[in-house]
Amino acid sequence: MDFSREEYGLPAARLESYRGALFASLSDDAPPLRDYLGATAAGLDLALGDGDLIYLGSQKVMFECNWKIAAENIYDGYHTVSLHKAFQMLKIGAAWGEQRMADAASYGHAWQEYRAGAPEQTDMLRDTSILAVRSKDEPGNRILNIFPTGIISDQMDTLSLRFAIPRGVSATEMQFAVFARRGESDELIRHRVRQGSNLFGPEGFISLEDQTALARVHDGAPGRGDNVVLKGTLKRFPPYRVLDEAGIRHFYGAYRRALDIGTGGPGRCPTGAGE
Ligand SMILES: [Fe+2]
Repeated sequence: MDFSREEYGLPAARLESYRGALFASLSDDAPPLRDYLGATAAGLDLALGDGDLIYLGSQKVMFECNWKIAAENIYDGYHTVSLHKAFQMLKIGAAWGEQRMADAASYGHAWQEYRAGAPEQTDMLRDTSILAVRSKDEPGNRILNIFPTGIISDQMDTLSLRFAIPRGVSATEMQFAVFARRGESDELIRHRVRQGSNLFGPEGFISLEDQTALARVHDGAPGRGDNVVLKGTLKRFPPYRVLDEAGIRHFYGAYRRALDIGTGGPGRCPTGAGE
């Protein structure tokens, strides 16, 4: 019998780590992890610190949309203040934040930084403590997009790792894992657990709104005619603000390069921003 079990096993994944985060690839052609991360590694340094994190748990959210729309959602800072009520209550101005993309040689990663104001008590928000920042002195939030769907964020007292699993043309499973830094107090860890559900859980004040909006975008995407990304906040040159559309163009530029389908044609960015 000439059947060889070794020839039919699962392929071995290449595995590399960066500050405690493990990255796997099934491709022999993928570059070394440090080259792949490029300048985005500096953002991971800030978010992950020494990498000595405690896993607190994870939640799964199903989005009724294609995985690329779920990916867009993170590259796009414009919707955060127009869609998310919690961000409005925090008086977060997306225009205050900066979004960095590496040059055309990058692999499509992005790095957003924005500041949040202190929440004010209103009829809508009686208990401001649920949005208070307790984990650090500076009010900065940072979100790292690791192309295509990996997200590492240090945002509103959550340290999270997210990734998307396509479950069909119209279904994307998003996994949200949350962490604490080793040595943090029990009280802060309880707060981080609560914030993880408050923000990212299926009924969280980010996920709930995103689920609804992404399903509507997906339903509208097959409409006839040209689908052009145009939010009216086009900017030719960096620095890009979180609300500019350069992030989405950056994502689709990397997607087209990965699939070797070129960047010409009807969807081409008119300015080249983000490409
Ligand atoms: Fe969102």
